[in-house]
Amino acid sequence: LDYLKDLGVDAIWLSPCYPSPQVDFGYDISDYKNIDPQYGTLKDFDHLVAEAEKRHIRILMDMVMNHTSDKHEWFVQSRSSRTNPYRDWYMWQDGKGETATDKGQVPNNWQSDFGHSAWEWDEKTRQYYYHKFYIQQPDVNWDNPKIHEAFKDIIGFWLKRGVGGFRFDAITTLYEDPQLRDEDIVLDKDGKSYLNAYGDIALNDTRTNNLPGTHPVMQEMRAWSDTFNSSKFPGTRVLIGETYLPNIGELAKQYGTPDKPEFHLPMDTQVGFINKLDVAQFRAKLNDVETGVNGNIPLLVFDNHDNARLDARYGDGVHDTDIQRVISTMLFASRGTALFYYGDEIGMKTTPPTRKEDVKDPVGLTGWPKDKGRDGERTPMQWNAGPNAGFTSAGVTPWLPVPPTAATVNVKAEEGQPDSLFTWYQTLIRLKKTNPAFAHGDNLMLDTSNMKVLSWMRQTSGAPSVIVSVNFTADPQTVSLSVPNASGNVKTLLKTPNATDPTSISQIQLGTYGVYIGELQ
Ligand code: GLC
Repeated sequence: LDYLKDLGVDAIWLSPCYPSPQVDFGYDISDYKNIDPQYGTLKDFDHLVAEAEKRHIRILMDMVMNHTSDKHEWFVQSRSSRTNPYRDWYMWQDGKGETATDKGQVPNNWQSDFGHSAWEWDEKTRQYYYHKFYIQQPDVNWDNPKIHEAFKDIIGFWLKRGVGGFRFDAITTLYEDPQLRDEDIVLDKDGKSYLNAYGDIALNDTRTNNLPGTHPVMQEMRAWSDTFNSSKFPGTRVLIGETYLPNIGELAKQYGTPDKPEFHLPMDTQVGFINKLDVAQFRAKLNDVETGVNGNIPLLVFDNHDNARLDARYGDGVHDTDIQRVISTMLFASRGTALFYYGDEIGMKTTPPTRKEDVKDPVGLTGWPKDKGRDGERTPMQWNAGPNAGFTSAGVTPWLPVPPTAATVNVKAEEGQPDSLFTWYQTLIRLKKTNPAFAHGDNLMLDTSNMKVLSWMRQTSGAPSVIVSVNFTADPQTVSLSVPNASGNVKTLLKTPNATDPTSISQIQLGTYGVYIGELQ
């Protein structure tokens, strides 16, 4: 906590730490009102919340409402007989053409996001159940009002303990097409169907993702969560959404309306997962989220536990640290809330398993070698260059191996070093908290025909505007900016060493992937 406080973090989203069989490493929950013994106890959790609070850090829980573990008591009951009161808590269907002796065919062509059919046959009660994710993660039935009450009860349980809010997992997949229509086949550029990494025919997901039913559910959860603000934990509890959506219009809907609010912060995954340093695309997508969400606060995110780290998606293998400065500048110097993943601040590298027998994430076994799973971005935090990078004692084998790059990429090597990536993150976060325009000013794109350098201005009334220029290339660039009614004189707030200290924004010189941030005088 002291480390995170020093970095400037003010809320921590914990991935699920409830009791779980750990098939999906916590995303398969068997008891929503406890802590998995391998992490500690509820008492330890309360201690964490209290210690975090002392440092003005909020703890956010991961709330998985799309599915439970197959070992959860609700599902154990549900699968025990067709007449069990919990039967209707999950998505049960007859097979197509099913008879007393023949299970028939799966109800339709729906696929699990982790490969193969989304329907699993249950011999005891002779029906199929639906699972968007692993077989051990049966989807709950949101048409059943009891599910709504059960999750409100769970949310209340954690809010009463003082958590700052939730990140709602897989929230766009709560509902499916009630008519169970097949998904459409996706065609490649030659008009042909093709196989995905799991060897299945690639389908689109319009029948099982982003159906409108999620909106009333989130209105309900928001209204409920808003009743929990207390004097002990003042301020609004924050609701964050895992919202991979096709466009800005769909993202805008996730905030709800002033009368019926939904998420405070649905994640914008359009900007952060462009996965290519392309100035035009970043300009367009950052502009979308600035202008397309009805003045709500964007939540930018470039990295998480489900995707290869930044080096693998944006790096060139030579200038990865410089490129991370480029990325983090977009993250922190744009309007909105910045969400980042542990280890980004020191430049941890994606380190996927090299042998199939080392894979831990089941999806990496199904997809091997095309999809090696998510182990590569889930390796231990690198604290120092000692044994196990200081994550655990020497001689202990951690769950996932410590990347060899830990010898140089670690907190100890970077903390307090003026030119380190860690210090860069720390400075950006400090600016975000202390400089009014940088903190909440509007974003205005500048020099919009430049395809090598992305420049923008942050402006708010009553404070000097801030200018940001980011070189997306390995070649030196000079930009000439002008802002109406401003002298153009500028004072540096932060820059990479290879950027010159300009006196005017009409001459900003940036070296390889250079960044300049200055305040208009
Ligand atoms: C979300 C989580 C991912 C998990 C999946 C199923 O996408 O981020 O880690 O596997 O939901 O719960």
